[in-house]
Amino acid sequence: MKIEDVKKIVVVGAGNMGHQISLQCAIFGFKVVCTDVKEEVLKKAEAFVDKYLPGRVEKGKMTADQAKQIRANISFSSNLQEACKDADYVIEAILEILDLKRKVFADLDKWCPPHTILATNSSFIVSSRIADATKRPGKVCNLHFFNPALVMKLVEVVQGPHTSDETIQISMDLCKKIEKVPVHLKKEVDGFLLNRIFRAIAREAQWILEMGVASVEDIDKACVYGAGHPMGPFRLNDLTGIDLSYIMGMEAFRATGDRSQLPTPSLVEKYVKGEYGEKTGKGWYDYTKKK
Ligand SMILES: NC(=O)c1ccc[n+]([C@@H]2O[C@H](COP(=O)([O-])OP(=O)(O)OC[C@H]3O[C@@H](n4cnc5c(N)ncnc54)[C@H](O)[C@@H]3O)[C@@H](O)[C@H]2O)c1
Repeated sequence: MKIEDVKKIVVVGAGNMGHQISLQCAIFGFKVVCTDVKEEVLKKAEAFVDKYLPGRVEKGKMTADQAKQIRANISFSSNLQEACKDADYVIEAILEILDLKRKVFADLDKWCPPHTILATNSSFIVSSRIADATKRPGKVCNLHFFNPALVMKLVEVVQGPHTSDETIQISMDLCKKIEKVPVHLKKEVDGFLLNRIFRAIAREAQWILEMGVASVEDIDKACVYGAGHPMGPFRLNDLTGIDLSYIMGMEAFRATGDRSQLPTPSLVEKYVKGEYGEKTGKGWYDYTKKK
């Protein structure tokens, strides 16, 4: 198979990441079905697209005809089985829970044609922990987009010991076609490439807070004004989701036994309170007063 054979992409999960990955693929000419188990999430994703495209036309970034074509490229569905029937490439972006992902991949394997590549957008779970839930491990890999997926250029394409070179080649080509910048990770490693670096920064920031050395605001300021980061680690954490950080920290601890990977007490408190960041209106910062 070659990238030219990839016409239809199915995205599983229309949350934070899934709806934007879907739109990015539709913008560059792929037929996309964006799926989710929750109707309200699908409605929100569709409303986002219906607001985003006219906004781009208004800003002169695309013509009305182009927007119309892109809109026609993308549909929304809660029927994953139906969507998979003629899929060439599937990108899974559901919750970061291994058992859930394994179940979805087993279903995808049953429902997709034999040629279909199955990629996971997981932030943390390497595809070798999922591939054996399918009968096509050579066609399973990690395709790791960054948040917000419409904006961030980087995609990490991670090759597990089971992943074929062809799958990696098509995945790299797919990223280029949707104007992303893919990097090829030749081996699986916990946290992949950039998140390993970010995680070290975030962990240190959280311990500085825990030790009472500085406030959330000042730690963020230090990273923005001293290191030139576009946003501080706490603001970034509110954007990517405190729930995800909690799950990733717990997973990292389970995988390595290293206690320093455990979420800090303040992060656990936020998680338990359901203060996940921007999506819940409150995280390290309060968004309820912001319009
Ligand atoms: N949030 C980020 O910054 C970020 C960045 C890169 C990668 N990721 C990864 O992307 C994935 C999704 O993260 P997110 O932040 O978009 O999560 P999210 O909670 O915003 O969205 C997940 C969606 O998956 C849906 N879902 C759950 N089970 C499903 C199923 N069986 N079939 C179809 N849909 C199902 C949920 O209804 C939900 O809408 C995770 O693996 C995460 O690690 C997240």
